[in-house]
Amino acid sequence: MPKPIGIFDSGVGGTSIWKEVAKMLPHEHTIYLADSANAPYGEKSKEEILRLSIKNTEYLVQRGCKIIIVACNTATTNAIDYLRSHYSVPFIGIEPAIKPAALQTKTKKVGVLATKGTLSSSLFHNTSKLFAEGITVFEQEGKGLVELIEAGKIDTEEMRNLLSTLLEPMLEENMDCLVLGCTHYPYLVPVLKEILPNNVNIIDSGEAVARQTKTILEQKNLQTKVNGNPEHIFYTNGDVTVLKDLIDSPNAKVSYLDF
Ligand code: SIN
Repeated sequence: MPKPIGIFDSGVGGTSIWKEVAKMLPHEHTIYLADSANAPYGEKSKEEILRLSIKNTEYLVQRGCKIIIVACNTATTNAIDYLRSHYSVPFIGIEPAIKPAALQTKTKKVGVLATKGTLSSSLFHNTSKLFAEGITVFEQEGKGLVELIEAGKIDTEEMRNLLSTLLEPMLEENMDCLVLGCTHYPYLVPVLKEILPNNVNIIDSGEAVARQTKTILEQKNLQTKVNGNPEHIFYTNGDVTVLKDLIDSPNAKVSYLDF
């Protein structure tokens, strides 16, 4: 088997990134780790997020991954510098899409929905400072959202009520771009569309991450060029059914692993 792309997340959310990667790089094999037993990362200390990120990385390196996507905003903002300086494998991280939002907003008001761990990181603040000059950025902690997604409770009244409460302050301020700063949140888009007015654009990082992965593989001459049926292996230390339902792909091999 050609060397796979490794992907890890605090749980099932990073599969939103995997979908973009599998679409843009159809010959690549992948191994995905869903650390659902430890979700959410967003409420943990920086030291704990780093420890878990190292554990996930060690497993993917040991499986021979040629590149690792940290498909979790919280792990990226808190651990990617350390990972890049301690492992020779290239890492792709997920940064909140502040730049495209700043370019698209007409009201000059952008909302960011992310975890406490992401919003309090220096990487997030530096990105906001760099790309959102002249723009008001409203930050909202998505407390409780990851837990509901991990439990498979997406299209529920509980989710609608929680999202409405979280988004109300930004909507009152007339924001017209909502940045999804957590890889779990793209699964909320259908519910968000019911709640948000039509003039609000929803922006996530999935496609940009897949493009960046493609670029780095090409630059380092690591692409899999052979046509074939790539293997997509998924491991979770949580609920296999929730993961399977979200991936929704007949080519995926999903199993439980106590990693
Ligand atoms: C979390 O585990 O709290 C969310 C993951 C993310 O930030 O993408």
